[in-house]
Amino acid sequence: MTVEPILVMQGINKSFPGVTALKNAQLRLFPGEVHALMGQNGAGKSTLIKALTGVEIPDAGEMRLNGKLIQPDCVGAAQEIGISTVYQEINLCPNLSVAENIFIGRFPMRRMGIDWKAIERESKTALAALNIHIDVTLPLASFPVAIQQMVAIARALSTEAQVLILDEPTSSLDEDEVERLFQTLRQLKQKGMAILFVTHFLDQTYAISDRITVLRNGEFVGEYPASELSRLDLINKMVGHEIDEAIYATDTSAGSANIDREPFITTSGLGSTGSMRPIDLDIYQGQVLGLGGLLGSGRTETARMLFGIDHADSGTIRIDGKLVKLNSPSKAVRHGMAFCPEDRKTEGIIAELSIRENIILALQARRGVFRFLPKRAQRAIADEYIQQLGIRTPDAEKPIGQLSGGNQQKAMLARWLATDPKMLILDEPTRGIDIAAKLEIMELVKAQCRKGLAILFISSEMSEVLRVSDRIAVLRDRQKIGEIDSNDADEQSVFRMIAGAES
Ligand SMILES: Nc1ncnc2c1ncn2[C@@H]1O[C@H](COP(=O)(O)OP(=O)(O)OP(=O)(O)O)[C@@H](O)[C@H]1O
Ligand SMILES: [Mg+2]
Repeated sequence: MTVEPILVMQGINKSFPGVTALKNAQLRLFPGEVHALMGQNGAGKSTLIKALTGVEIPDAGEMRLNGKLIQPDCVGAAQEIGISTVYQEINLCPNLSVAENIFIGRFPMRRMGIDWKAIERESKTALAALNIHIDVTLPLASFPVAIQQMVAIARALSTEAQVLILDEPTSSLDEDEVERLFQTLRQLKQKGMAILFVTHFLDQTYAISDRITVLRNGEFVGEYPASELSRLDLINKMVGHEIDEAIYATDTSAGSANIDREPFITTSGLGSTGSMRPIDLDIYQGQVLGLGGLLGSGRTETARMLFGIDHADSGTIRIDGKLVKLNSPSKAVRHGMAFCPEDRKTEGIIAELSIRENIILALQARRGVFRFLPKRAQRAIADEYIQQLGIRTPDAEKPIGQLSGGNQQKAMLARWLATDPKMLILDEPTRGIDIAAKLEIMELVKAQCRKGLAILFISSEMSEVLRVSDRIAVLRDRQKIGEIDSNDADEQSVFRMIAGAES
């Protein structure tokens, strides 16, 4: 490239107590490029971004924007010099309206005070550019995570940025929404914006990026044109050793297809007016039932109904053949069910508590307050899962909020596995988890399954649903349109099934 980079970071170091997050890291961004920052969970991607955006102050190193030395010491400062960021965890204010979230901190003023009309109008325009048409006066929390993510992106776009940073913006979006976002990014790129993009989806890396920077253990591994770095090379550079190509192709389903037992749980005509149409499901111990469908097809709604969070107003549930009423999560837990929800920030992680406390939380709740687990036992459980799931931390006593995003997700999984459930509902369990850890986690889940766990598995990645599930219930428009054996299906056939039901 003959053009000068717009942004250069060099020799960046950052340590936290007990952890070296960045060691001599570097990054270059050119105008008009999409640049992917890749690395395993805990590699230092988010920390590098935070150093650039004034959230964390680096211990050493130099950053230049258009050749000029910069030292942003707060988010506002970075924003002012033209660096705009969408963070990994949506950090907007759920109680404020959509419009307020887009304009927070920079409300347009009129003589009489804040110009609410302008805020509404411009928020609508900003979202319309992303093809989102919603009532911007409603609280942000009333919309699904995917929409909240798009609001965060709209906010970043509506500030005048030269550099746009997206830290895992797509982990909660479905394929259409990702395509829409990518179209927007391509337009911004044409206008000369430099875009830095973090994702764990390799397909997306190659669909959108021009160049790739790889970090490993906080260190710079290399910078490559995307067209010259094969997927396998990329994975090898992220992991730091040769990975056998074969394991990426293996089918990991538990494979106990010949079920002659009774299902663990059976629903007949289970429905909730306005949220999910009556659905029949059989979920067996030792099997993974996948829910296939697009965002909004009713996957999470089905899970919530089964776990007693949302109340069904028609149909029945049987567990081990006996009629039961699951009208609260605590009842579901008493029947041996566990639910690892999709939105770890609002429904799962308690950032101030330690990793140990977060892991034993569900187990302790199940035992009740009077059967308190002694600390030694808690530690043993936490350490076991930290080791089994490869959670990257020096110590189980660290606040969980200090873990990298993917490692927090692993801790959530540990919390539910620790309760030793009969059935586990996994809603997007590998969201934000790097490709190597993803395979490990799915292996672990399958191993539990082979020991007799029943699993309901939800993922936006159809390839993952196909790999993991034994059977797939296909949903569309909040109803089940069919069920297939995953051995007889591929991505195309599932999508054809979904599309076919459209007419
Ligand atoms: N505030 C903090 N206090 C202590 N340790 C931290 C803090 N922030 C990050 N770390 C540690 O620094 C390392 C790098 O974390 P970072 O969040 O940058 O990883 P990442 O590459 O973004 O991973 P992921 O893919 O999981 O999001 C991790 O070991 C993490 O636990
Ligand atoms: Mg991160």
